[in-house]
Amino acid sequence: MTEEQLIQMALKVRQNAYVPYSEFMVGAALLGVSGEVYTGCNVECASLGATNCAERTAVFKAVSEGETKFKAIAVTGDPNKYTFPCGICRQVLVEFGRELKVIVAKTPDDYKVFTIEELIPHSFTPDDLGKNSPEEDQNGF
Ligand code: THU
Repeated sequence: MTEEQLIQMALKVRQNAYVPYSEFMVGAALLGVSGEVYTGCNVECASLGATNCAERTAVFKAVSEGETKFKAIAVTGDPNKYTFPCGICRQVLVEFGRELKVIVAKTPDDYKVFTIEELIPHSFTPDDLGKNSPEEDQNGF
C-alpha cells in the first residue's frame, strides 16, 4: 500500500459523503498494521452536532472490526486546498498512538505528511490515565 493508493481510496469514499447541509465532502482511508484499509466519509444530520467526520467514521469502523493499531490515514476534502482533521478527530486519532502518519491530500500527487503528534502536540492521551495506547508498527510505510 502506497501513500498514493491510500489517497485514491480516500478520494473514492469521499464520493459517498452525506452532506446535505455543508455540501463539504470529506473522505478518509485508514491503514491498519494488518494491512487492512478502513474507509470513511462524513455523515451529517439535521441536528448538526450529531455529524460525524470522515476520519472518525474510518476509526470507528476499524475499531469495531477489531483493529486498533494504525500506520497512516489519508484525508481528502477540498480538492483545491489541504483539508486538515478537525480538533475532535485529532484527539480520536492520537488515542491510538502518537506516530500515526496523517496524509493530507488534494490529489494523489499533491499531499503533505505529518505525524498526529505534530497536529496535536501536548495532547491528553491514555498515558494521562496510566494506560497504554495501542502500539504502532511503522514498518513498511
Ligand atoms: N469534516 C470532516 O469530515 N473532517 C474534518 O476533519 C473536518 C470537517 C466535515 C464535517 C462536516 O460534515 C463538514 O466537514 C463541514 O464541517
